[in-house]
Amino acid sequence: MFNPQKYWDDRMEQWGTDPRGAGNKTLSVGENLAMFAGAVTSMIDNGIHEIFENAVVLEIGVGNGYFIPFYKAWGMQQYTGADITDKNFGEIHSKNDNLVLIKKNITEDLLQSDPVCDLIIMIDTEQHIVDDKDFKKAMKNIHDMLKPGGRILMTTWDTKTLEQTTDYEVKRPLDDILKYLPNYRLSAVFPYRDKFIFWAQKP
Ligand SMILES: C[S@@+](CC[C@H](N)C(=O)[O-])C[C@H]1O[C@@H](n2cnc3c(N)ncnc32)[C@H](O)[C@@H]1O
Repeated sequence: MFNPQKYWDDRMEQWGTDPRGAGNKTLSVGENLAMFAGAVTSMIDNGIHEIFENAVVLEIGVGNGYFIPFYKAWGMQQYTGADITDKNFGEIHSKNDNLVLIKKNITEDLLQSDPVCDLIIMIDTEQHIVDDKDFKKAMKNIHDMLKPGGRILMTTWDTKTLEQTTDYEVKRPLDDILKYLPNYRLSAVFPYRDKFIFWAQKP
C-alpha cells in the first residue's frame, strides 16, 4: 500500500531541491525549469497573481519552494508552508526570510482550528492524495482554514473519470473536487503546465 510519508521523504532525500524532486522526475533539469517558468507565466497571464495582494497564504505541498519569491513579489503578506516532508525546509529557509514551514500531512489533523487564511494554495499536490477518504479530509481542512471570502488555488487535470496513473498519483475530475467546495465562486479553468489551474472563493 502507498505510504506517502515514505514516498516523499525518499524522493526529496534523493533529489533535494533539484527541480526533478518536486517536478517531473522523468524530465531533465532544464525541461523542469522551463515548466516552472511556464507555470509562473500562466499565473501572470491569467491574472492569478492579483489574488496574492495582501494575502495571508498557506501553501500545501511546498516542494522546493520555487514559487515563494514570486508570491512575495505579487504582494503576499504572510507565508506558511505545510509539507508532509521537511527534507527541503533547511534550504528553503536559507533562501527566504520571514516564512513559517511546518511538517504536516494535510489529510490529518488541522494545522489551525480557526479560519485564518486568505489564500490556500495546493498546486500539483492534490493528485498525490490518492485515497478518497484522505482527499475528503484534506478538502475539509482547507475549507475550515479559509476565511469567508478567502480562496483556494488548485490544479487539476481535464479528465471525466477518476484515473489512478501510478501508486502516487491520481487524475481526479474537477467535479470530484468541486463537491467539497459547496457554493464557492469559481474562476475560469486556465492551462497550467501539463494540467489546469483554477481558484474557488469561499462564500
Ligand atoms: C509534486 S510536488 C509539488 C510542489 C509544489 N507545489 C510545486 O508546484 O512545485 C508535491 C508536494 O506535495 C507534498 N505532499 C504530498 N502529499 C502531501 C500531503 N498529504 N500533505 C502535505 N504535503 C504533501 C510533497 O512532499 C511535495 O513537496
